[in-house]
This record gives sequence, C-alpha cells and structure tokens, in this order.
Amino acid sequence: MNDNSGMKRGLTSYGDEKFSLYLRKAFIKAMGYSDDALSRPVIGIANTYSAYNACHANTPQIVEAVKRGVMLAGGLPMDFPTISLHEAFSFPTSMYLRNLMSMDTEEMLRALPMDACVLIGGCDKTVPAQLMAAASADIPVIQIVTGPMLSGTHREQRIGACTDCRRFWGDYRAQRIDEAEINEVESRLVPTGGTCGVMGTASTMACMTEALGMMLPGGAAIPAVTAERLRHSEAAGARAMKLTQLKLKPSDIMTAAAFENALRVLLAVGGSTNGIVHIAAIAGRLGIKIDMDAFDRLGSETPVLVDLKPNGQYYMDDLHNAGGMAPILRELKPLLNLDCLTITGRTLGEEIDDYPAAFTQDVVRPLANPIHSGGGIAFLKGNLAGDGAIIKQSAGTPELLVHTGTAVVFDSLEDLATRIDDPDLEVTGDSVLILRNAGPKGAPGMPEAGYIPIPEKLATQGVTDMVRISDCRMSVTAFGTIVLHATPEAAVGGPLALVESGDQVSLNVAERTLSMNVSDEILAQRRAQWSPPESTRAERGYKKLHMEHVTQADEGVDFDFLTQRPFTSSAPLK
Ligand code: FES
Repeated sequence: MNDNSGMKRGLTSYGDEKFSLYLRKAFIKAMGYSDDALSRPVIGIANTYSAYNACHANTPQIVEAVKRGVMLAGGLPMDFPTISLHEAFSFPTSMYLRNLMSMDTEEMLRALPMDACVLIGGCDKTVPAQLMAAASADIPVIQIVTGPMLSGTHREQRIGACTDCRRFWGDYRAQRIDEAEINEVESRLVPTGGTCGVMGTASTMACMTEALGMMLPGGAAIPAVTAERLRHSEAAGARAMKLTQLKLKPSDIMTAAAFENALRVLLAVGGSTNGIVHIAAIAGRLGIKIDMDAFDRLGSETPVLVDLKPNGQYYMDDLHNAGGMAPILRELKPLLNLDCLTITGRTLGEEIDDYPAAFTQDVVRPLANPIHSGGGIAFLKGNLAGDGAIIKQSAGTPELLVHTGTAVVFDSLEDLATRIDDPDLEVTGDSVLILRNAGPKGAPGMPEAGYIPIPEKLATQGVTDMVRISDCRMSVTAFGTIVLHATPEAAVGGPLALVESGDQVSLNVAERTLSMNVSDEILAQRRAQWSPPESTRAERGYKKLHMEHVTQADEGVDFDFLTQRPFTSSAPLK
C-alpha cells in the first residue's frame, strides 16, 4: 500500500498528517476494525437505500454481496449513504434533485478515503447522478443497478410498472374500470422491489451504462430479486479491487466513442428520450458535447431491435431471460466502436466475443428484421425550436408529422390544468397545443409534463392525438405527436416565450423543422415586452443555486459550474 492509498487517502486537514491519520484510525477502530483491515485497499460503496425508494429495496442485500466480493479479494469495503431519489417521492420532480444527488455523490467520492467505489443506482435519476459524479471525481468506479422488478398479473393479464400504470388510470378515468378494480390494480402493479420493468428511463440508463463500459457485462437486465443480481454484485466488489490495480478511471472509459455506443444502444432498445438529456450531462462533465444533428443521423442507421414495452410486448425479465444485453450488443457489433475500454480492463469487442453462446429467442430481433427500421427520434430546428427540439416520431401519428395548425398556448403547468378541459377553450383537432415555462428553470426541473392531455371536449369526440409542443420532458410510456425539450426554454426567453395563441405553427418532421409563421419584426416587438416568469425567482437555498446555474436540455440540465468547458470533443463521432 503506497502512502496515498486506503485509509491514508484524503486526510482531514489538521496541519499534521500523522495526527490526522492517527485520529482517523482511532475513530474508525471504534467500529471494531483491526489494523490488518485498516491496512487494506478501501472500496467505497454508495448505498442508496431509502425507505422512500422501492426501486432500491434490495440495496441492503446488494451492499452485503459487494462487501463479500471486496473481502474475498482482500480489500476493506466501506458503505456510505447518499441521497436516494424515487420518481414518485420527489417534489416537485426528481430531475430538479438529480444535480444535488450528483454533487452529494461527487463530494463523498472526493472526501472519503477510498481507492475505488461501487455505485448502486437504479431509479431513473440515480444512475445519471452517479455517473456524472464519477466523471467529475474521476476515481475508479463501477456502476451497479438494483435491477428491474418482476412483471406481475392482474386478473390473468400480465402487467408491470409503469406502462400499465397509465393505461389502467386512463381506463379508470374513462369509467371502463371501477374504483374497486383500480384499488386492486394499485396492489398489483409493482409486484416486487426493483426498477420499472419496461424500457423506461431506468432500464434505458442501465442498458446504456453497460454499453458505456461502466458496468460488468450482463448487469443491466438481471431482475432485482434474483440470486443472480447478488452474484453480479459480489463480482462487482471483486472487480473494484482489480480496478485499484489497473487504475482505470471513468475518463479512460467514458470517451466520445463510448458515448456513441451508448447512444446507439438507446436507439436500438427504443429507449427513453430522457436518456439523451442524461447522457448529455454525463458527457458534459468530461468536456464531450452531444451533437444532436449527428445523433439524428445515427438514428437513421440504427433500427429498434428490442420488443419491449412500451414500444413492444415484453418486459425486462423477458429481456434478461433472452440474454440481456448480450444479444443486443452482438447484433449491433458491426455498428459499435469495439476498441472502447470497459471496467473489465478489456475492450467492448473482446467482451462481446466472450459472451455466452447465442440461443433462439424472440425478444431481441436481428438487425435484418427489426421492430422498427430506425430514425425513431428526430432533432428539429426552426424559429420555434431555437437551438433545437426533439420528437419521438415513432410514437407520433404519421398524418400529423407534417402539420400546420393554430397555436393554443398555456403559460404554465397550472394554466394547463386550469384551462385544458374548459368547454370554452378555443381549440379544434387541428390546433397545436403549446405548454411553456415547464423547462429546466420554468417548472422548475423540467418535469415529465410534455404529454399534454387532449382537451376533454375533443377527446369525447374521438380525437386521440394532436401536435403538442413544450420545453419539458415526457415519460417514455406516453405516446403521441409530441415535441419536447424546446431549447432554450421559454423561462429564459426562448422561442416558446414569444409564440401566442392564434399564431400559425408548422411541424415538418421529414424536413426536421418546427416554425411559427410570425415575422422577425413582430418577434422582436414581443421580445422587447417579455420578462421572466415569477416562478423563476428564488431567494435562497437549493432553488437559488438551481435557478442561477442550471443549463438547458442540450447541455444535460446540469449546473454550469459542474460541467467541463470548453467542449474538447463530441459524440456521436462525425
Ligand atoms: Fe423507479 Fe420507475 S419509479 S424506475
């Protein structure tokens, strides 16, 4: 052990290093550790267990398994708590708190003595927060996820959070099922601990993390409640000990080429649009810009291979039984950057060549017979898109992908809630619904509110989709012709701030444009009269920090002082 490893790392500043070590050991010995234990390499374990977070319910067992792996390899495991975020227990929205979790994790990685760390994430914002922290602290790190929940059943239907959450709630609102049944559903939707069992943000991030090389092969899809999840965790503990010898840092692994691989996987699994924002934030910590034009091109050559809800029929436990990431990466192999290093110390190409033998399954399709031919996510430009906006065109109505209509503008989430079902709202099925001031600052926290409901009076006439535009995000489980992430957002004076009800708005996905038929002269007049909404004011605390420093969607909604600028490279590669 050299002088800067193990318990000797990052000594507390007392002006006398020997005193600092003596005091540290005196206190830690109160936990029962021997001199032998304290002389070993130290592996930190970021423990994100929380009584509020069912997606992390198995974290205590994972921590024990990681500890076993570390000790079997001769190290000293030390778990420590960080913030834990659950989607349904984060007011106003978990995205608002993601950067706080990343700061907490980064500072613990820096402050506590450890030679490597195992990060245990799972629920949507936790893995992005941890990888952002890992990129900035740049000490050897392995990412584990808690793993997906098992699917369940309701009256013989197979169900799972959270695709079926919205479906049943829609049935209840439309009185297709009664109160007794929705209560029954509530008790069956989430049958086990673990992350949502569909290709939502958590699963998308898990798959991208494995493709990035920051997770041991096979780790993305193992269900939370299985023995295999614990064996994977034990192996991660042992691997963390190897990392201390290899000194492989996140910046060695998370290169522009590796981010391209991750984005390729996002497209191939039919992943969440939220994944784009998170990858931009993680890459941004390393000075790597996500080039959305290049991402759009990547999409057109990357088909959707995975037949999982919400785009397909299966659940995450089916993907695991079909081989997890192995069949996906094996199919994508001709399109991947195979020289990228992974935390195994080997390249992605070497790992793919070493996968268990392929077998017949129908969850992951071959490249020659995909679920969808590709181009699922398009990047839009124009005088209403500003620096850009995205649309998941594979979820839209084909006839609406080229559409001009009259804008109906809602100034905030509250305004939307108040007026959307007003019988006097001037709206037709051809109108374009616009929600503004719901972006990173406007809401704040860029909530998943982009699925603007169809006005009741149109829904009851049978209208099922309309062009909808906002500066917020959308749950992967929502469908429709929905433009998201308009950047810059309205709350900082982006184009959405200037559009008015009655303006003609045009969407043309084939030409990648989003525009309003308003002259530059009129837009300049409107801009002169614009002022930021009241919701962006903050006097103190975390909200003040957020309002003063949060970046826009194209930069990952990270805080500007946490990013690495100027950008030194971009992904996907040109
Ligand atoms: Fe945690 Fe879906 S709520 S992953």
